[in-house]
Amino acid sequence: MAEDLALKFKEQFPLLERTVRGGKPLIYLDSGATSQKPTVVLDAERAFYEQHNSAVHRGAHQLAEEATDAYESARATIAGFIGATPGELVFTKNATESLNLVAYAFLNSTLETERGLEVDPRFVLRPGDEIVVTEMEHHANLIPWQELAAKTGATLRWFGLTDDGRLDMSNLNDLINEKTKVVSVVHQSNILGTINPVTDIAKRAHEVGALMVVDACQSVPHIPVDVKALGADFIAWSGHKMYGPMGIGCLWGRTELLKVMPPFITGGSMIKKVTMESSTYADPPQRFEAGVPMAAQAVGLAQAVDFINELGIENLAAHEHELTGYALDKLNVMPGIRIIGPTENVDRGAAISFEVDGVHAHDIGQVLDDAGVAVRVGHHCAAPACQRYGVTATVRASFAGYNTKADVDALVAAIKRAQEFFGVAGDSVEGATDGS
Ligand code: ALA
Repeated sequence: MAEDLALKFKEQFPLLERTVRGGKPLIYLDSGATSQKPTVVLDAERAFYEQHNSAVHRGAHQLAEEATDAYESARATIAGFIGATPGELVFTKNATESLNLVAYAFLNSTLETERGLEVDPRFVLRPGDEIVVTEMEHHANLIPWQELAAKTGATLRWFGLTDDGRLDMSNLNDLINEKTKVVSVVHQSNILGTINPVTDIAKRAHEVGALMVVDACQSVPHIPVDVKALGADFIAWSGHKMYGPMGIGCLWGRTELLKVMPPFITGGSMIKKVTMESSTYADPPQRFEAGVPMAAQAVGLAQAVDFINELGIENLAAHEHELTGYALDKLNVMPGIRIIGPTENVDRGAAISFEVDGVHAHDIGQVLDDAGVAVRVGHHCAAPACQRYGVTATVRASFAGYNTKADVDALVAAIKRAQEFFGVAGDSVEGATDGS
């Protein structure tokens, strides 16, 4: 996507027209945390509330019918985006809830066997069984598994990381073995930007009869993801990072697995029959959608999918890839900058973490913010990855379709200014001078 097309794309995001910190143009480089929303998504949510607002899957009036149709049609659109069918897509509050839903399916199945109930053995964990994650997981894909291990007596194991920010795949066959019941891996690391070989990992997981979960939060919004090609059993992601609303997450699961999983959250609308003594549960996806669901957000997210499809996710991915290469070329040659994550633009996405010699990430973030450049600083909810690379915090710039090379130039110039401000500037800051 050429620079002028990216600018046209950007025009559709009203927030990106605002200024910050005393009239400076906003350079938004924090789409890894949340993307901005185009007008069409804001309009779709508003139209739902203005025209069709009603609690879905309840009520016999026209509004209830329209709201239910809008919600279910949104499910079909969003499922289609990842090559899935609507019945395989569960709406949740966010990706964190999606991942917890899967972890709790294991815990609840294990508890049910202890009560003598019949459950699918693939979801039962005993002491000696193993759960495998990676050292680059977001806390949302680590803590649920830590908790599950602690509650069931299973052992948590993980892939280590190489010095250049990749998964250490050298012990794949030892790590994922006959004791492994579930493997849960991030597709694209939110902190390092690394794109992991999840298809190869899924193949090994399936060889030993384990289930494969993928945290796809940073991949589904940025690169084409086809669930069948990926080879996973579950994938989780959120709506707000893909130009959609906050408050909606997605879980795709293979139908035969969703069918045997016990519910996570119980209550209205997820049941078949309820008596004072006990209840039976609806088929998926309703079984996992207790309570009045987030219909307006589902409609907004479906609109975001249509919006992406208009340009094509392949074109967005190519644009972000080019931008990432441009940023890496600049940052790689800047004195005093250490990239935490792959420095080559190969199997990596549009999130670049770095540290600046001699200055804490939070201080850099403050100077960047003063220049209108919005980045994320901290451990990015991936503290073990920071520990692995010996840093307490990093600065992270993350891109989306609306970013341009001029944004990267502004970032580089602002970093240079910060280095000067803190008295840590190198002698020659080649690549850091453009756009300053
Ligand atoms: N997980 C989000 C991020 O990486 C919030 O910033």
